[in-house]
Amino acid sequence: MQKLYDNFLLKEFNTFGVSAVAKHYLAIDSSDELVGAFQSNIQLINESRLSLGAGSNLLFLSDYDGLIIHPLIEGIRIVSEQKYHVEVEVGAGIKWDSFVAWCVDNGWHGVENLSLIPGDVGAVPVQNIGAYGVEASSLISEVKGIDIQSLKEISLDREACKFGYRTSLFKEKLKENFIVTSVVFRLSVQPHFTLKYEGLEPTISQYGEINLQNIRKAIISIRESKLPDPKVFGNAGSFFKNPVVAENIATSLKNLYPEMPVYPVGTDQVKIAAGWLIDKAGWKGRSFGNAAVHEKQALVLINKGGATGQEIFRLSEMVAEDVLQKFDIALEREVQVVGN
Ligand code: EPU
Repeated sequence: MQKLYDNFLLKEFNTFGVSAVAKHYLAIDSSDELVGAFQSNIQLINESRLSLGAGSNLLFLSDYDGLIIHPLIEGIRIVSEQKYHVEVEVGAGIKWDSFVAWCVDNGWHGVENLSLIPGDVGAVPVQNIGAYGVEASSLISEVKGIDIQSLKEISLDREACKFGYRTSLFKEKLKENFIVTSVVFRLSVQPHFTLKYEGLEPTISQYGEINLQNIRKAIISIRESKLPDPKVFGNAGSFFKNPVVAENIATSLKNLYPEMPVYPVGTDQVKIAAGWLIDKAGWKGRSFGNAAVHEKQALVLINKGGATGQEIFRLSEMVAEDVLQKFDIALEREVQVVGN
């Protein structure tokens, strides 16, 4: 049943736990409901729009003067089963980690390194989630959704989605105008593991042989040891992206700080660990009002209780200004900031 509410409190709908209010909030169970809602409330087309999953990558700075669309579309359907691959279409409202658990139970390889990432399936292509050497884009074969201007269903193949590091067409050109309704994933039936992330193999070996179940257990234990549970301290995972810089910039910094973690990207660029920069700049565990830099992972900002979006944002600005001053590296936010 389509549900449209006025003045809707979003505190439970963003993992920072910020008390923002949306002018309109629409929850839909199907594509038809979404189309029906716009056809029967034509004024909605003129409002700014935001598609909400579990709200695990959003920071509200103020109330939202527009329409929040929350796809609660359920359903998992096997599209095709071949010798080496299986394709599965998953509703945008399915909890990402329940889908990962389901794949692991079925013996399908690909998503296990992305265990325990908070959020719903609909946000996965938007953000191109990634962790422990795997990016969702390598597993997505198709994204289906509704184009808001035409109210028609559109399907985009992987190429058309223009995936990048924590970005996609849905975050850029199609922002506000496309609501993801389902995602088709291509998983491997044959064993295929990605184990290059430092420290992953030793953690897996604590659970036994290398298999899907043990990889999932290892990833969950690594994440739980570093990342705060949003139910305890509101947070949105990594607040900043890891900056990608030219190799010569990384080399000069490496001369000063030989221990600085760097990861090659292509042939002449290097990704630097933002968490390390923030940590080295002395921000780990520091607070501003009710917001703080997490004491176990400096890339994560937390709500210690009752923080406003403005407080968290101001802390992020102080962190970024200091990193710029100390290392001459500009940090870019990964979290989507809404309002002003
Ligand atoms: N580090 C520090 N101090 C810190 C944090 C990190 O020295 O406070 C060092 C670590 O020791 C390590 C390096 O920085 O050598 C990288 O840290 P980590 O492995 O924890 O990963 P990350 O670069 O901070 C990225 C993703 C995470 C993902 C992990 C694991 C981004 C922005 N973040 O974090 O994704 O889970 O790698 O693959 O790419 C997210 O996007 O929300 C997220 C949690």
